[in-house]
Amino acid sequence: MTAPGLAIGAPCDTPFSNNEPSFRKAEMDAIDQLRTRYLHEIAEAPDETAVETLRVEALGKKGEISLKMRELGKMTPEERQVAGPALNALKSELTSALVARKSALEDAALSERLKDEWLDVTRPPRPQARGTIHPISQVTEEITAIFADLGYSVAEGPQIESDHYNFDALNIPPEHPARQEHDTFYMHRDTGDNRPPHVLRTHTSPVQIRYMETHGVPCRVIAPGRVYRADYDQTHTPMFHQCEGLAIDKDISMANLKWTLEEFCKTFFDIDGIELRFRASHFPFTEPSAEVDIRCSWSGGQLKIGEGDDWMEILGSGMVHPKVLEAAGVDPSQWQGFAFGMGIDRLAMLKYGIPDLRAFFDSDLRWLRHYGFAALDMPTLHGGISR
Ligand code: DAH
Repeated sequence: MTAPGLAIGAPCDTPFSNNEPSFRKAEMDAIDQLRTRYLHEIAEAPDETAVETLRVEALGKKGEISLKMRELGKMTPEERQVAGPALNALKSELTSALVARKSALEDAALSERLKDEWLDVTRPPRPQARGTIHPISQVTEEITAIFADLGYSVAEGPQIESDHYNFDALNIPPEHPARQEHDTFYMHRDTGDNRPPHVLRTHTSPVQIRYMETHGVPCRVIAPGRVYRADYDQTHTPMFHQCEGLAIDKDISMANLKWTLEEFCKTFFDIDGIELRFRASHFPFTEPSAEVDIRCSWSGGQLKIGEGDDWMEILGSGMVHPKVLEAAGVDPSQWQGFAFGMGIDRLAMLKYGIPDLRAFFDSDLRWLRHYGFAALDMPTLHGGISR
């Protein structure tokens, strides 16, 4: 028979009448105290580990309640009738309280996480900072695509170049006036070190020598890259870009050079009325030599090609000088060919109507966004090399 007032959840101060046997009163008080203490501790348990500790303390193999249940065996049947159901009720009450506390803590932890990890899927996406391809990179790719189609490979050389490759091997000896014209940046040499200083290469022409030395002839190669000269105005910056071209074989002539350059310009500018002007000129590394200008106009601060009365020099060219072939270990009685050096920045200005070269290197984001190219805007001869 279950004693009245011992139902689950009974208040802990359930009064017992004074005429109850003393065991009953003591036992019920003890169970009630356990109940009060554990329910309080469970309610206050700060985390799941604390809940688990309480479960072990109360209901584990050696837990307080389990030990008490073991004592049932030693009791008289009457005592057991009182204590048994009360302990069972306590056990199931604490078990439910533990489960409830555990899930409340889990819920609280989840809500705490959701506060931080909350995601509003209805919000518009954040604008992404997206870079653009610089016109110089774009134009370099375009030039490469055109010459690759004509069978040219691409070569590179160092930007810090020796005096030998930048000048001597190109038939520009120490006293040659061209050395002054180049406004060269010299690298530092320690005092007492009398070797000629290295230079920031003033042109991409040294790559001609390096390429022939390592790959031999015949060859068809272009070499785009940075070059340096102490010069600064609307169309000159101390660092700029050139693309060298070199074609050596048994019977290459000036006519091949002219065809190649015309073909290149037609494809590059994609304008029917493009007009080139070949001007006789002088370079120590070519003989004969020609500078090539392109017809353009500057009206209203806008640069346009294929029209107008102005000419813009875009490249130097000529038949490679026998001394240059010799310097690269090539026999000039067997081989001949042409070379050219074009200004990549100039070509970019002309093609995309950019009036001031200096802005190319200012890193002004507005300029870069305006003149830059999307990353997927890859030049191909089939898809078109212009925008
Ligand atoms: N190196 C020359 C310069 O920087 C450009 C040049 C002219 C390159 C004639 C050549 C060439 O290969 O044949 O002004």
